[in-house]
Amino acid sequence: MSSQPTLVVLGASGDLAVRLLFPALLSLEFRERLEDLKIIGYARQEWSTDEFHEHLRAAIDMDGVDIDQKYFERFIDRIEFHGGDISVSALKGLEPELDGPAIFYLALPPGVFADAAEKIAQAGLADQTKGYRRLVIEKPFGTDLETALELNEQLHRYWREDQIFRIDHFLGKETVQNMLVFRFANRFIEPVLNSGHVDEIQITVAETLGVEGRSHYYDGIGALRDMVQNHLIQMMTFATMEPPALWEAEMIRDHKVEVLKSVHAMNPDTDAVRGQYSAGLVEGVPRVGYRQEPGVEPTSRTDTFAAVQLHVDTWRWEGIPVLLRSGKRLAAKAHEVVFRFREPPTSLFRHTPLEHAEPNWLVFRMSPSEATELVVRTKQPGLELETRESVLRADYATADDHEASAYESLLLDVLEGDHTPFLRFDEVEWSWRIVDPILKAWEHGAPEEYVGGSDGPAGQHRFLGPGHYWRPLLNPAK
Ligand code: BG6
Repeated sequence: MSSQPTLVVLGASGDLAVRLLFPALLSLEFRERLEDLKIIGYARQEWSTDEFHEHLRAAIDMDGVDIDQKYFERFIDRIEFHGGDISVSALKGLEPELDGPAIFYLALPPGVFADAAEKIAQAGLADQTKGYRRLVIEKPFGTDLETALELNEQLHRYWREDQIFRIDHFLGKETVQNMLVFRFANRFIEPVLNSGHVDEIQITVAETLGVEGRSHYYDGIGALRDMVQNHLIQMMTFATMEPPALWEAEMIRDHKVEVLKSVHAMNPDTDAVRGQYSAGLVEGVPRVGYRQEPGVEPTSRTDTFAAVQLHVDTWRWEGIPVLLRSGKRLAAKAHEVVFRFREPPTSLFRHTPLEHAEPNWLVFRMSPSEATELVVRTKQPGLELETRESVLRADYATADDHEASAYESLLLDVLEGDHTPFLRFDEVEWSWRIVDPILKAWEHGAPEEYVGGSDGPAGQHRFLGPGHYWRPLLNPAK
């Protein structure tokens, strides 16, 4: 028995592995964080290890990556190839190579997660007598509540929950994690994050990309399932959860589940809006409409934009709308979590241009720039007592910082056995409970059309209270 851990990447020749996983591992090599990790690429091809190395050398895009060749060679040397399909007999072939702790990363299509997890266990590889055995899977976890429950049940048949690491890659993003640090590492901010001071929360993930050759997955899935059910709702839990007493995975996940369970049942007819892009100019480039994208049904009713109004029914957030929106082919790439603050109780400065000024906002921006901003009102220099808007800005990183990609951070956490940034089974279930009524309602009718390169369908504005507006995608402050 050995204490050397092995990472088995199932689906090692596929797109996810080559585009995201191996580059992240290589970068961890460069940071000298892989220690004695052994990596096995497992895929159907009948390759030798040398042939797999050649495949990786050709496929890993090193353009613009400043990594010394010696690290690349050291990385390649860790990797072995093992050919086989997802059958018990083929997987048993891995056994002699796994004499200690092991992680199985399923870089496979979501439809085979349950089957692969089952076969790995049936091959005896989930047994922890030789060291830990962990399973890593990445969203989508089901396509609705029913299929998500089924997947959890299938996984739990063979794996204990503490062996499972469910990835939502947004939780590996440093700027998303920074939200929790900003909230809980500073004494002054938490006391004002409540309905006494905040009157709206907005979470936007706007993309300029279209479906980018992924229509086989995306068509019929849409923005609500692809983005809102996971990434946006996860960011909402970070923005609204109670402060945990300890930085401890289960306590943090308990608090996140508390948020999810507190979400008020909503009315899909009034609290959800869907859109689909038509042809338009996106960042100056003409783009076809969604229905003209290769592989998309010409009559497709898939939502490429979804906006939802939720309420988190807790003392802290009583009555506060939490607005989530995400869409493709919008005017700009913008990822933000924003708290809008109430007006001061008296209008001392109503004679000044302040009346039409921006409200106070606390902005956590992940894209295009990475910063935390507080939009405040200050005195306009000069003789008059006039006000203007100022932005207190904390840039997330400087040129000297070495930011890590989401996958680097998540892979390291799997190696360390830290579940904090991974989804527990009940988080997945409760997020599906939030969106399931909308999915059911959207089985009928059609999305509202929006022009590619715009800020999305007009319907999204109907959630907003008097005087409220979505923060513009192309914000001059950026
Ligand atoms: C993925 C979605 O989970 O997240 C994609 O399937 C989306 O449709 C992507 O484009 C956005 O992630 P990122 O990290 O590129 O902002």
